[in-house]
Amino acid sequence: MKAPVRVAVTGAAGQISYSLLFRIASGDMLGKDQPVILQLLEIEPAMNALKGVIMELDDCAFPLLHGVVASHDPMVAFKDADIALLVGARPRSKGMERKDLLESNGAIFTGQGKALAAVANKNVKVLVVGNPANTNALILSKNAPGLNPKNITSMMRLDHNRAMTQLANKVGAHSTDVKDVVAWGNHSSTQYPDIFNATVKGKKASELVDENWLVNDFIPTVQKRGAAIIEARGLSSAASAANAAIDHIRSWVLGTAEGEVVTMGVPSDGSYGIPEGVMFGYPCTCKNGEYTVVQGFEINEFSRKYIDITYKELCEERDSIKHLLG
Ligand code: NAI
Repeated sequence: MKAPVRVAVTGAAGQISYSLLFRIASGDMLGKDQPVILQLLEIEPAMNALKGVIMELDDCAFPLLHGVVASHDPMVAFKDADIALLVGARPRSKGMERKDLLESNGAIFTGQGKALAAVANKNVKVLVVGNPANTNALILSKNAPGLNPKNITSMMRLDHNRAMTQLANKVGAHSTDVKDVVAWGNHSSTQYPDIFNATVKGKKASELVDENWLVNDFIPTVQKRGAAIIEARGLSSAASAANAAIDHIRSWVLGTAEGEVVTMGVPSDGSYGIPEGVMFGYPCTCKNGEYTVVQGFEINEFSRKYIDITYKELCEERDSIKHLLG
């Protein structure tokens, strides 16, 4: 039997984790032959709720679950972690400006960066889910000395998955028929879901839909999907966010399929004209536990305009929390 992988999850008593933890423990993320130890972090007032979640994990008798650690101390929850899913974040409260949200979450992610650097596996793979995910990941990366910055990523996979299904539905296909969509940039309403490189059953997607649909339907639907779910459900997307986190880590660790391109929020490296210094949604492939930004996707004039907008927003977010970047 393989040695267990230590998976740290923050915000473990929250909505997303209520779906995420059970899927990790059942082998959906790392494979049906990979035991895991869950290391759960919550804030003190939520520790009792977390106790209830752990009772439920126990009650599933998952064959692959080889232990659960629960703590409100990141130095305990991140100890020797091989994978860290940073879901916990402060939600935006009434009257709070985006800048205040960045600031209060900034404090969480500077502390968690330091703790990961101090006690986690040096090669820990980090996925930031808590919003604003891209800039939180950037803050974490700048406060985690000794960790490989390439291993700190943010979640764009939900946007990617949303784009696949919207396109498939439009042309009467299945999401598995869709290849090479990308959700460029920020996980926010400026993200750019791009179909100009995509195919559906091998046909160019841009020849199957028109620009009016792209501008007035597809792009805003994907950009504002989170808000639409809150409107309908009264709560933010949770099961689909957990699913995207599972997809992100599974692709990264186990590899993407031949010909499969996924979107990951990764440190910008100059690719596609985005200078270093932000966490950007890029098309990626994964092999042997490493991701690579796919080169050579076409960026036409239409796409460039949208990509510039989302890049600008990321720069503004970064500039507003410059003092947290070390
Ligand atoms: P939730 O409010 O149900 O749960 C968050 C949990 O985090 C709470 O239990 C809270 O006690 C905990 N928490 C707060 N500060 C913490 C800290 N310093 N350390 C550890 N735990 C802490 O929220 P939900 O629905 O689970 O969402 C979590 C985050 O994920 C939110 O920021 C949300 O905006 C974000 N999100 C991101 C998506 C993406 O695609 N990147 C998609 C959907 C949600």
